[in-house]
Amino acid sequence: MKYKLNNIQIYIESNYEKMSKQAAYLLASQIRLNSQSVLGLATGGTPVGMYKELVRMHKEEGLDFSQVSSFNLDEYCPISRDNPQSYYYYMMDNLFKHINIDTDRINIPNGNVENIEEECKNYENKIIKAGGIDFQVLGIGNNGHIGFNEPDDKFEAFTHLVYLDEGTIEANSRFFDSIDEVPKKAISMGIKTIMLAKKIMLLANGKNKAAIIKKTIFGEITPKVPASILQVHPDVTFVVDEEAASEIIPLLK
Ligand code: PGA
Repeated sequence: MKYKLNNIQIYIESNYEKMSKQAAYLLASQIRLNSQSVLGLATGGTPVGMYKELVRMHKEEGLDFSQVSSFNLDEYCPISRDNPQSYYYYMMDNLFKHINIDTDRINIPNGNVENIEEECKNYENKIIKAGGIDFQVLGIGNNGHIGFNEPDDKFEAFTHLVYLDEGTIEANSRFFDSIDEVPKKAISMGIKTIMLAKKIMLLANGKNKAAIIKKTIFGEITPKVPASILQVHPDVTFVVDEEAASEIIPLLK
């Protein structure tokens, strides 16, 4: 089911697999329309199914990533790239090693550098040099974070160092052996970096995302719910499953 609310498009799919396929289809359409697209990519549990479908599209339908560039939203800090919990490792494992993307065009913040401020500045400059992000994929935290922009008193503009929320550390501990192993910091694109993307697609599935999806789309625009800023982006698409949509479905009818 597809809905339109001013500048916001909402696809509600019956389950995770269909959500993943719809998201992959929209991302693939972007690449087919512009083979040199600059993609902004997300990690976490949510987009795994979308990446799986994109790999299938590459292998079976020849979806061509050879001219595509990518910038990931965030990375833990400190973490080495060969750590299986790093987002670098995740991206290689879930997508990049299975497709024909040019490794020189892959960009992921390096969470293992001495000078973090310089890394953030360089990352932001690389995005500008690439011509900006054409299509940004986002997940959403239970607290409304996008990238690792945690709830705050103000929107942080550009790529920056983040101290992760207790709730985020706890949510992400499911990927680690113990909660103590979850890094406490991260490098994240800022809200302005994200909002400058020409198109944005946010994915969410599961009942535990239902309340935050409602707040994001229908609530007050506030840095306390970082994703709420998307209400004023000119071209944003939500692709959600029925569980994540359960609190907005009554408001759309
Ligand atoms: P998840 O994380 O996909 O693992 O739920 C989303 C996020 O924290 O942005």
